[in-house]
Amino acid sequence: MTKSLQVLGIESSCDETGVALVEVHGNAVPVLLAHALYSQIEMHQAYGGVVPELASRDHIRRVLPLTQQVLSESGRVLADIDVVAFTRGPGLAGALLVGAGVACALGAALGKPVLGVHHLEGHLLSPFLSADPPEFPFVALLVSGGHTQLMRVDGVGRYELLGETIDDAAGEAFDKSAKLLGLGYPGGPALSKLAQQGNPVAFKLPRPLLRSDNLDFSFAGLKTAVMVQAKKLAQAMPCEVVDLPVPVLADLAASTQAAIVEVLVKKSLIALKLTGLNRLVVAGGVGANHSLREQLNAECAKRHVRVHYPELHLCTDNGAMIAMAAAMRLQSGQQKASEVYAFDVKPRWPLNTL
Ligand code: KG4
Ligand code: ZN
Repeated sequence: MTKSLQVLGIESSCDETGVALVEVHGNAVPVLLAHALYSQIEMHQAYGGVVPELASRDHIRRVLPLTQQVLSESGRVLADIDVVAFTRGPGLAGALLVGAGVACALGAALGKPVLGVHHLEGHLLSPFLSADPPEFPFVALLVSGGHTQLMRVDGVGRYELLGETIDDAAGEAFDKSAKLLGLGYPGGPALSKLAQQGNPVAFKLPRPLLRSDNLDFSFAGLKTAVMVQAKKLAQAMPCEVVDLPVPVLADLAASTQAAIVEVLVKKSLIALKLTGLNRLVVAGGVGANHSLREQLNAECAKRHVRVHYPELHLCTDNGAMIAMAAAMRLQSGQQKASEVYAFDVKPRWPLNTL
C-alpha cells in the first residue's frame, strides 16, 4: 500500500485567512481532513473596502492559530505534514507574503517541501471538494472579485482561456453597484439579498458585449448605468441615493443582478456550444449567487449539461481549495514540491500561463 500524503494549504491573498489539511491516497480524489477560516470582513467594513496593510497584519495574527486548529481538528500534529502549500498569487503582495513566509518557515523547520499555488486554480478545482466532483474535460466559469474568465479545462494544469473581462470583474460589478446603493462591503451578498425583494425588469440596464460573438465580458459600464439611474430617481424624490425607499433600492439591486447574471449565463452557454462540452464548473465568490445558480441550472438542464459548483461555504476564499489544488498538482505530476525556501509571490499572474 502506498503511504498517504498530508498537504497543508494556506490562503492569504486578500481578506480571508484560510488553512486546511487534505490527505492524498494514490490517484483518488484527495480528502479534506479539516479547514479553518478567519474572515476580515468586519475589520474592513469601516473603510468600505479592503485596506491592504491591515489585511497583511491580520493574516500574521491568524495564520498560526488557524494551523493549530486544523491540526487539532484533524487529529494530526505538525510532524505529520508532508507538504506545505500556499497561495503564491494573484492577490495583494503584502498579504501573499504572509502566507508564503509562514509556509516556507514551516517547511524549513519541519524539513518538508513547499509548493506555491495559483489562487484561481484553487477556485477552479474547488468543486473537487464537493460530494459530487466533476470529471475532466469541462468549461469553467471563474467568477471572483477580481477575475471573470471562461476556460476550457482538459485536466490539472491544462487550461485554455476562452474569454475574460476587458475591464471590471463580475464580483467587482456587484461590489461597486452595491457600494453606490449604500449597501456596504462586500457588496455581492448584500445586493443579492436585497434583490430577492425587487423586480429584475424594473429598470433597463445594459448587457455589455451580450451580442458579440466572442467570449469576453465588460462590466465597467454597468455601474455607471446603475449610478445614472439611481441619481435620476433620487433627484425626482428628492433625496440622496442611499436614502431611496427600500422597494426602489430593491428594484435597482434586482435589475443590476439580472444584468450581470444574464451575461454570465449566455456567455457560458456559448462557451459550451463552441467547445462541444457538456459539463460546466462554476467557481469563485460570485458562484455563491443564488440567481446565477438557478438560471444556470435551468438553462443547462434544457441542454443536458451537468453543472458543478463548490459547496456554498467554499465558493469564497478558503484554505481547502489551496490544499486541494496543491494535492491535485502533485498527483498529476504537473509540479513537484520544492525544498528551496527562497520564496516569492506573484501579485499578477494569468492562470493560462501556468
Ligand atoms: O472568490 P472571492 O472570494 O475572492 C476573490 O478571489 O476575488 O470572490 C469575492 C467576490 C466579491 O466580489 C463578492 O461580492 C462576491 O464574490 N460574492 C457574491 C456573492 N457572494 C460573494 N456576489 C454575488 N452574490 C453572492 N451571493
Ligand atoms: Zn478568490
